[in-house]
Amino acid sequence: MVTGGAGFIGSHVARALKEEGHEVLVVDDLSFGKRENIPEIDLEVVDIRDEKIHGIFRDFSPHYVFHLAAQIDVRRSLREPEVDAAINILGTLNLIKASISTGAEKFIFASTGGAIYGAVENATEKSPPRPECPYGVAKLTCEHYLRNFYLWEGLPFTALRLANVYGPRQEPRGEAGVVAIFSLHIKENKRPKLFGYGKLIRDYVYVEDVVRAFILSMEKGDGEIINIGTGKKTTNGELWELMKKLSGTQLEPILEEKKKGEIDFYSLSIEKAKRVLGWEPQYSLEEGLKKTLEYFGVCTRVQ
Ligand SMILES: NC(=O)c1ccc[n+]([C@@H]2O[C@H](COP(=O)([O-])OP(=O)(O)OC[C@H]3O[C@@H](n4cnc5c(N)ncnc54)[C@H](O)[C@@H]3O)[C@@H](O)[C@H]2O)c1
Repeated sequence: MVTGGAGFIGSHVARALKEEGHEVLVVDDLSFGKRENIPEIDLEVVDIRDEKIHGIFRDFSPHYVFHLAAQIDVRRSLREPEVDAAINILGTLNLIKASISTGAEKFIFASTGGAIYGAVENATEKSPPRPECPYGVAKLTCEHYLRNFYLWEGLPFTALRLANVYGPRQEPRGEAGVVAIFSLHIKENKRPKLFGYGKLIRDYVYVEDVVRAFILSMEKGDGEIINIGTGKKTTNGELWELMKKLSGTQLEPILEEKKKGEIDFYSLSIEKAKRVLGWEPQYSLEEGLKKTLEYFGVCTRVQ
């Protein structure tokens, strides 16, 4: 079962599982996900907070639950923390309870590195979490619940603390969608905005690499919280310059102050992912950006 499987990362996870020969059911309320992202895959359109979830679990009886459905907008989590908590905490608890009562073998959770550590460089899983937005508070809370239910109910879990994920099918919204936003600006010949005057440091990881981490977590990493990123630091200014070079656009960005809820920098250490999952990213930023620009219909220069 892939919750949020009609969305950006979830649709890549669901399709990869299907290609590997697994029977896949996507659970998504289509608040942001799209049916056309997963044309060949069974879909239940339902809110993860709904009681109906329990009947769906009884019927499908998933061995593995990949939980990616979430309210992902950091700014909305500041404006409406109760909505964020209802979806991201209570929705997750609903799924955990259903997983336990139907004997799921493992719960794999899409957590966040960028929103849990706060402004920390090279954060390891042992760095003290200091979320600076309610979205991060909710994701961290879910990790604690998962640890509890592993301990007391024997539900194995792996929580993947993802860096900034980018790639095809990402929607151009929110801070996480900056690559999609830049791609569309290039396509439509519109000047992009560089918040934080182009100096915000992030770790950008390509979606296909992230999918491999989810799949490896089926067999490895029980009870573990693991960073998934590249370990590299890139400013939004550098990201724009690289996309500019790849596309050949002449557009000049507009420099602006950073928005509320955004941190100045973070980067992740990925040593644990290498050790525990045997995982490391295969795509360079340039390769990933090239594939993403092409998906958005922007021709890239042959390198
Ligand atoms: N994109 C990133 O850079 C990034 C970074 C860190 C963590 N994550 C996490 O990865 C997961 C996937 O993120 P994404 O970027 O693919 O976002 P996305 O918005 O494309 O996917 C989320 C999906 O969840 C669905 N959804 C939302 N609320 C729901 C609800 N109440 N019930 C059922 N479905 C619901 C949406 O329709 C959407 O399809 C999220 O849990 C997010 O917090 C993403």
